[in-house]
Amino acid sequence: MASLLCPTSATLQQNHRILCFSPLKSISQVNHFSFTKSLKSTPGRCSAFPDDLLEQSLSQFPIIKSELDTVTGELTDVQKWGFIVFAGLTWIYLTARPGVLVGAIDAYLLAPLQLGFDNLTGRRSLKRSDFLVGDKLGEGSFGIVYSGVIVPKNASPEERVPKRGKAKTALVNDDRFKEKVILKKVKVGVQGAEEFGDYEEWFNYRLSRAAPETCAEFLGSFVADQNNSQFIKGGKWLVWKFEGDRTLADYLKDRSFPLNIESVMFGRVLQGVESVKRNALIIKQIMRQIITSLKKIHDTGIVHRDVKPANIVVTKRGRIKLIDFGAATDLRIGKNYVPNRTLLDPDYCPPELYVLPEETPSPPPEPIAALLSPILWQLNSPDLFDMYSAGIALLQMAIPSLRSEAYLKNFNSEIKAVQYDLNKWRERTRLRPDLTILDLESGRGWDLATKLISQRGFLRRGRLSAAAA
Ligand SMILES: Nc1ncnc2c1ncn2[C@@H]1O[C@H](COP(=O)(O)OP(=O)(O)OP(=O)(O)O)[C@@H](O)[C@H]1O
Ligand SMILES: [Mg+2]
Repeated sequence: MASLLCPTSATLQQNHRILCFSPLKSISQVNHFSFTKSLKSTPGRCSAFPDDLLEQSLSQFPIIKSELDTVTGELTDVQKWGFIVFAGLTWIYLTARPGVLVGAIDAYLLAPLQLGFDNLTGRRSLKRSDFLVGDKLGEGSFGIVYSGVIVPKNASPEERVPKRGKAKTALVNDDRFKEKVILKKVKVGVQGAEEFGDYEEWFNYRLSRAAPETCAEFLGSFVADQNNSQFIKGGKWLVWKFEGDRTLADYLKDRSFPLNIESVMFGRVLQGVESVKRNALIIKQIMRQIITSLKKIHDTGIVHRDVKPANIVVTKRGRIKLIDFGAATDLRIGKNYVPNRTLLDPDYCPPELYVLPEETPSPPPEPIAALLSPILWQLNSPDLFDMYSAGIALLQMAIPSLRSEAYLKNFNSEIKAVQYDLNKWRERTRLRPDLTILDLESGRGWDLATKLISQRGFLRRGRLSAAAA
């Protein structure tokens, strides 16, 4: 019995095949020489852990071992263990969400590289005359959005700055003007608009490096150099690649949704599938893409804060692209985070109203904020803010009556009255919603909806994250 608990060198010499192990190699592969040797020199003492285990483990990684020997030099084995544990914990902390290490690499290496590359290729020196502005697509508080085209390199000076009315003709008729873009004019003289435009530009550059597939391709910005039709001298314009004709909101407006988006999402019509199931499959595909994109965005430390069908463009190839990052916040470094400020769409906004509790102070300087950010994320899970909005989008896709603005408003007052408990809402609602799609497959859709549309609750985690969803 004693030899089992603390074997002598004799028993170990007989049984060394059983006792020598490595985390990486199988038992029989392990070179046990040094182990038995050290035991022989101290008979009766159970000294293999941690001293020789450390040596053994490190012998598998000669480079790390030599580096460690250089760093830890004269340290005892216990101190070496302490060093390794400390280094491991530091690594875990720096790579935990929102990724202090990756963020630092992005800020101090990738961003300057992108800037240099863009300068070389001329991307950072866009001009007013590089684009022709077409129809107005929308107007928010801080900007007006237009469709447009890139003026080809061989265009004449008159084509570059056409007289009023001619621009549109060129857009429609000239084959050379085929690269479509979206232009957002940042409003001039509106309080907060300039700041909003700068943030939107910053977030687009950041995401173009960290998660380009989640958002519209950002082409850059320019400042108008003179007054001319829509241009106001000194006004900033942001430019994106045109990603698609319709947003998810446009598709939802059509009574035939989700069949109107089926061939875009799947590249074909789902034949032979029963109709309710078919609708569910389409919605599931859209929802999966929204959640995957949100996960990637949240992994970078960014919370969008304005997730809604009107801010989701569907590309020709059935990819979902998030747009409109003017209200986004980067909680890795506190970018565009002002305590107590809320700029939200009340129809999609979660009950907590703010990404972080109101008492959270203004962010410290960026490097310090970045160092503290894993703690902030662990304590507050700010990403769950967007997940509530994604839940509302899911309900709108699955419950036809909620696609109307008036019904959505009624839903919002009803859900508030039951403290954001979707199961209670189901029992008490007067809206008579059709829940067939959500109830399919033992209510999997309903289950997801209840976990997205909920209060934050205890420890502020009472809602599914994009990763969990
Ligand atoms: N990259 C893009 N590709 C295709 N369409 C786009 C793109 N970006 C924006 N749009 C279209 O322009 C509209 C407005 O864009 P955006 O949401 O960025 O601006 P906004 O300031 O919120 O304006 P609004 O309040 O009208 O939505 C979108 O709803 C969409 O139809
Ligand atoms: Mg918008």
